[in-house]
Amino acid sequence: MDSIVMMRNSFLFITFFIFNLGFLDAQKTPAIYVFGDSLVDVGNNNYLTLSLVKATLPHYGIDFPTKRPTGRFSNGKNAADLIAEKVGLPTSPPYLSLICKVKNNNNKNVSFLSGVNFASGGAGIFNGTDDNFRQSIPLTKQVDYYSQVHDQLTQQIGASTLQKHLSKSIFIVVIGSNDIFGYSNSMDLQKKNTPQQYVDSMTSSLKIQLQRLYNIGARKFEIVGVSAIGCSPAYRLKNKTECFLEANLLSIKYNEELQSMLKEWKLENKDSSYSYFDTYAALQDLIHNPTSYGFVDVKDACCGLGELNSQFLCTPISILCSNRKDHIFWDQVHPTEAATRIIVDTLFNGPSKYTFPINMEQLLAL
Ligand SMILES: *[C@@H]1O[C@H](CO)[C@@H](O)[C@H](O)[C@H]1NC(C)=O
Ligand SMILES: *[C@@H]1O[C@H](CO)[C@@H](O)[C@H](O)[C@H]1NC(C)=O
Ligand SMILES: *[C@@H]1O[C@H](CO)[C@@H](O)[C@H](O)[C@H]1NC(C)=O
Repeated sequence: MDSIVMMRNSFLFITFFIFNLGFLDAQKTPAIYVFGDSLVDVGNNNYLTLSLVKATLPHYGIDFPTKRPTGRFSNGKNAADLIAEKVGLPTSPPYLSLICKVKNNNNKNVSFLSGVNFASGGAGIFNGTDDNFRQSIPLTKQVDYYSQVHDQLTQQIGASTLQKHLSKSIFIVVIGSNDIFGYSNSMDLQKKNTPQQYVDSMTSSLKIQLQRLYNIGARKFEIVGVSAIGCSPAYRLKNKTECFLEANLLSIKYNEELQSMLKEWKLENKDSSYSYFDTYAALQDLIHNPTSYGFVDVKDACCGLGELNSQFLCTPISILCSNRKDHIFWDQVHPTEAATRIIVDTLFNGPSKYTFPINMEQLLAL
């Protein structure tokens, strides 16, 4: 009888520490909730059995503190880790790792209150062709998961305590690159939509998900635009090692639409706040002035094979560059930890040229 009750309790409810609440209340930013793609996935895809979009083999993780692959698409830490460092919080754990612990009943200390990361490599704003969510967890599904977390927390601590907690927490959204990859790789999508129609439908779909987050408690948003995708090694292969213009123009167009959507959305939800980060401009700075940031190679992937070390994925048989700190790109599309660190510094407290209407530090202080 006892053990049945115990089992049920730990299965239905994730135990957490109520005594933490006082402490969390006193803290300015109690938690970070992360949504997005491989730029901020800290291991969710490891739990998608059928997914091929995984960073679970060397040389991924070679510079991570454990020196092992973790599911991060980086040689070391990624933007989710480095932002958490800036805020002074531990990295929010992958949602699927928490759920797995609950199911296996091997850790009653699982807590959703100290932050959760829902991001998934390969994820887009659109669901994509992968309708069974095998390869990745699309944004809509990530928000569904957050909604389940919200339900559980409401039962555990009550709606009003929870709302206080969430309204001080930061909601980071890093998404859109895979949708742009999708468009520039699909003749079919290009036939059916002009670039403008496509980015419009990206931002209107994103707006729906932001509104869902708002409706279930989120108030402070860090929204990251898409980068200069056409300058990633994979795309440089399409233009004799120069940036591929079409993808960059689409990114610029999307970022413009995103900014105007955010302005409009803020007017509709007056007690929400956001910081927009222009990661496109921040990356272009590194590419145009590499030496002033300590970089030597702006074109090649550090881990790969073939032209630009980028014709193949980063795998155990890849060629590794000799200095991982002087490359901007780690693999075909993802930046090195070194580049990410500089970009995250700018995101956190950079000038309004890169992040507006306020930067993340100012968002935390609200
Ligand atoms: C749970 O957390 C408490 C306090 O931090 C710790 O003493 C205990 O060992 C933890 N239990 C497990 C199973 O991790
Ligand atoms: C994704 O799929 C879900 C159902 O699984 C649907 O509700 C949602 O509208 C879809 N999102 C987009 C952006 O197509
Ligand atoms: C290739 O790069 C050159 C130099 O940056 C640029 O002028 C040209 O438009 C690019 N072409 C494509 C197809 O992106």
